[in-house]
Amino acid sequence: MAKKSAIAPASAKGVPSINIGISDKDRAAIAQGLSKLLADTYTLYLTTHNFHWNVTGPMFNSLHAMFMAQYTELWNAVDPIAERIRSLGHPAPGSYGQFAALSSLKDAPATPPKALEMVRILVEGHEGVARTARALFPIVDKAGDEPSADLLTQRLTVHEQTAWMLRSLLEDR
Ligand SMILES: [Fe+2]
Repeated sequence: MAKKSAIAPASAKGVPSINIGISDKDRAAIAQGLSKLLADTYTLYLTTHNFHWNVTGPMFNSLHAMFMAQYTELWNAVDPIAERIRSLGHPAPGSYGQFAALSSLKDAPATPPKALEMVRILVEGHEGVARTARALFPIVDKAGDEPSADLLTQRLTVHEQTAWMLRSLLEDR
């Protein structure tokens, strides 16, 4: 009897199907969860950049600079999330329509809020992204998807730390 081939079967177009040890169903579920994380991250990036432009008041200098550091970090984060989705064999969402449909975060207000209200909105945003990342952990864990687990761990660390720093601006004691 012939030995079972270790080579993945070719798909209809001759491109080998993905055979990395994660089932098609799990890859699809993880890609869907990462798409939500990408949409949340992009939305929070845009809101933070918006607030960098529009912040006013006595804290202008420090908040303008702090928001720049934060939006730069978020901007750099979207690429590895999107490329992990691609590595799992799925298309990465990349339009405002898709992001609006996928994101758990509200869009930035049309009228710029006061400085401390901006900070409060960003605390909520970072906490929201952390919840989206954490909700994906069980399936990633079950599937043995270490690269996605590593990515989620890194993102959780950043969002929880940034939420703490922003929250500290709202505490006056
Ligand atoms: Fe700037």
